[in-house]
Amino acid sequence: MSNHEVPSLSDQVAATVSEAIGRAYPELAGADPVVRRSDHADFQSNAALALAKRARTKPADIATRTLSELGGAGAIGAVAVSGPGFLNISVADRRVWEQVAARLAEKRLGVGESEAGRRTVLDYSAPNVAKEMHVGHLRTTIIGDSIARVLGFLGADVLRRNHLGDWGTQFGMLIQYLDEHPDATWHHDELGAGASSVSALDGLYRQARAAFDADPAFADRSRARVVALQAGDTETVARWREIVAESEKAFREIYDRLGVLLTPEDSVGESFYNPMLADTVAELLAAGIAVESEGAVVIFSEEVTGPDGQPVPLMVRKRDGGYGYDTTDLATIRHRIRDLKADWLLYVTDSRQALHFRLIFEAARRAGWLTDDVDAEHIAYGTVLGPDGRPFKTRAGGTVRLMDLLDDAVARARAVVAEKNPDMAPVELDAIAEQAGIGAVKYADLSTSRVKDYAFDVDRMVSFTGNTGVYLQYAHTRIRSILRRAGDPETTVVPDGPLEPAERALALELDAYAGVLAEVAATLEPHRLCGYLYDLARDFTTFYEACPVLKAEDTVRANRLALCRLTARTLEHGLGLLGITAPERM
Ligand code: ARG
Repeated sequence: MSNHEVPSLSDQVAATVSEAIGRAYPELAGADPVVRRSDHADFQSNAALALAKRARTKPADIATRTLSELGGAGAIGAVAVSGPGFLNISVADRRVWEQVAARLAEKRLGVGESEAGRRTVLDYSAPNVAKEMHVGHLRTTIIGDSIARVLGFLGADVLRRNHLGDWGTQFGMLIQYLDEHPDATWHHDELGAGASSVSALDGLYRQARAAFDADPAFADRSRARVVALQAGDTETVARWREIVAESEKAFREIYDRLGVLLTPEDSVGESFYNPMLADTVAELLAAGIAVESEGAVVIFSEEVTGPDGQPVPLMVRKRDGGYGYDTTDLATIRHRIRDLKADWLLYVTDSRQALHFRLIFEAARRAGWLTDDVDAEHIAYGTVLGPDGRPFKTRAGGTVRLMDLLDDAVARARAVVAEKNPDMAPVELDAIAEQAGIGAVKYADLSTSRVKDYAFDVDRMVSFTGNTGVYLQYAHTRIRSILRRAGDPETTVVPDGPLEPAERALALELDAYAGVLAEVAATLEPHRLCGYLYDLARDFTTFYEACPVLKAEDTVRANRLALCRLTARTLEHGLGLLGITAPERM
């Protein structure tokens, strides 16, 4: 297999139409030919409607003159003017089959590297040390990971950054408390199976907080501990390292189970930027961007005002001289642009942090770090709600642990798969249930439009019908099974073979894969890929109902098997970019 880009028929048609428009109307050269898939033909160009004003003529004239310039050029087979000035364009049958053959011959399915060389820093997951990962961290981890995969596949040079919350005054309190309670158990190895060190630490932290509020002497000792930590006191730092390492073990268990790309090297927590904070603040003060206000140092926004009509501030240095979340993100963005030479900065957090990032980007722009050659985007997402559409809580009213949620999804997937395959061996069933359950959770999260809230409904997620991960995994296994029954032959496509409407629809959908990935990269919305894969699976079903594969003969059979093979590969690949595995059977 080779490694070439295969331009899509849609792109080829668009280029040809664009050239024809340029020949007919030189003043419109380079205009967008607005080529889309259509119900009336393979493609439709709506350019004439948009361009009529500019050319001071009727859309129908533009369409007619463009048509006369087209004359069966490029991929275009037949073309006709319809309505007020649409061009209905069909591709010759032979070109459709050639396109299937060309993609099948390519390792990357003919998808090019449209984001090549773009140095991207992608900030995602970022749980907080000594706190349990909960349902709130699910989306950033899953969405971020899928974006890392898509951009990476399109050639971007992606640096994943897991901006762990591993620094702050709360650690002084926790370390002091642990020192005063040497019997507290929280190390991974001392805890029983199923228990995690972060949940133990989470509990101890709550106790420390209570002691801090109730006991002024403990509060004083805690404050001294913060100073010791910041001053690099050996014992205190060692203790802090231990807490971070234990927490990371628990995060790693979740990452392994979710099958995300994040590695320990990607963990660059808030503490990493600590040595850069003072200098960042000094630079912002010297530039007059940060100013003193009531003993603190702040940056007043020039763009955003609060409900009181006053400019909204970023807290750069607190009155007590301490630095917080805002300061760290200022140092972080400077580092990522200056030292990592990023030209694309992405942050995946929930939409409640939209204002925070808006202010950080504004400050970075004013400081001259964020220039026009660098893009910075906050990839915001909505909240995960409980199955009833209300805030997600356990029955006891607590936050839902991510691990429990995954266990639940896998158990239900196991039941659904077992029902379909009563004879499946338990070992295989376990393996498939894990893939189906985790895939279901990821797909449900990725397939809803990113900014919307969604209800976490496990029963719906693991269903074999509807727009679910399980449905797509199953669609893939069905095609694999057809190929196995055919003896998995390496068939060659015969471009002169007949082409049924359902074959044509499936082939054109397969040809649109690269275009969808480009859209995901442009919008950073993985649900577009989900929607595409779902449509593809349904086009396959329509094809399979209309066009028998195994019973067909010679050319027809070979061409249909080629469509099966390309569909299976595209589904598997697309699911892979969502971080979802495609089992061989289920
Ligand atoms: N740890 C933060 C949280 O749990 C998210 C950090 C996001 N990244 C960043 N650079 N601020 O909300």
